[in-house]
Amino acid sequence: MTLDRFRGARVLITGGLGFIGGSLARALVGAGADVSIVDALLPGCGGNHANIAGLEGAVTVREADLRDTDLATALDGREFVFNLAGHTSHIDSMNAPLTDLELNCAAQLALLEACRHMTPAPTVVFAGTRQVYGRPRYLPVDETHPIDPVDVNGIHKIAAEQYHLLYGNVYDIPVAVLRLTNTYGPGMRVRDARQTFLGVWIRDLVQGGEFEVWGDGSQLRDFTYVDDAVAALLAAAADPRAHGRVLNLGDERSVSLLQLADLCVAANGSGSYRVVPFPADRKSIDIGDYVGDYRAIRELLGWRPTVTLEDGLARTLEYYREHGGLYW
Ligand SMILES: NC(=O)c1ccc[n+]([C@@H]2O[C@H](COP(=O)([O-])OP(=O)(O)OC[C@H]3O[C@@H](n4cnc5c(N)ncnc54)[C@H](O)[C@@H]3O)[C@@H](O)[C@H]2O)c1
Repeated sequence: MTLDRFRGARVLITGGLGFIGGSLARALVGAGADVSIVDALLPGCGGNHANIAGLEGAVTVREADLRDTDLATALDGREFVFNLAGHTSHIDSMNAPLTDLELNCAAQLALLEACRHMTPAPTVVFAGTRQVYGRPRYLPVDETHPIDPVDVNGIHKIAAEQYHLLYGNVYDIPVAVLRLTNTYGPGMRVRDARQTFLGVWIRDLVQGGEFEVWGDGSQLRDFTYVDDAVAALLAAAADPRAHGRVLNLGDERSVSLLQLADLCVAANGSGSYRVVPFPADRKSIDIGDYVGDYRAIRELLGWRPTVTLEDGLARTLEYYREHGGLYW
């Protein structure tokens, strides 16, 4: 079983105070790994100490930026690196492209440069994104779909993927890339829509407000509950068959935004929403319908999503009812 592989393993999580990184840290500590984190707690990202609440004595946290910290020391003896440090906001990447370049490219190169000087090199798993495909030309989108990003963030994330694969090939570093789709669950950023619109919906529902569905609500999306994303990251690290590969995540079903809005209201037991036109700056970078094809990871690693949207939304709402004050 995958988790057994991490008992006693020395692991570094970049971006480990973030949404997905925090859940990954919890899973790894539970598995008996020795976990350390590097996270700069950048204001536009989802880093939050609440994401590792209860793990304080069990993980080592270095509050630092990958671009200007001593990575050789941070990497020393680390067998696995889960590289989740990244900048997720599409709109920020259009408004401040050089910042996105720094975080999604320069910082990634700094990490890879440090990895290539380690002996032995750690296994690196990189969190890529479905954003690199741009507007889908067919559904579901598999890994051979053309790469044609609609925003600066997508361009930088595909560059970062390529850096990882290149360093893997040239310097013999075991590297796996997962292309995550919309990930949600406890710990996601809900203060604004920088990480996902769903975070704002969850916040508004918990606070008793009305949330907004942008567009006509017909856009299709697929969602991954954070525990399932963590399981995929662990499987990709543990299984050498994933090394050198780029693999999509996805879900059994896709839903329209209107269906998702109804599921959110049902899971909350109350609430309302209104459908409003897309803000102009969002419309120009919207990808339309997206549904990922995740057959490759299912066939290779046996990964498949296990948490239904209904269940995942209920767990997420419950978390923010209890802990929302730490995230608003
Ligand atoms: N959440 C999603 O739906 C989703 C979808 C596709 C891909 N991803 C990718 O997964 C990764 C993690 O996403 P998340 O949702 O947990 O985001 P997040 O913003 O919650 O976490 C990222 C963390 O990285 C840290 N960070 C960023 N740049 C850094 C740097 N240079 N040095 C040190 N720390 C830095 C931030 O402070 C933050 O805590 C990102 O690379 C993201 O692009 C996420």
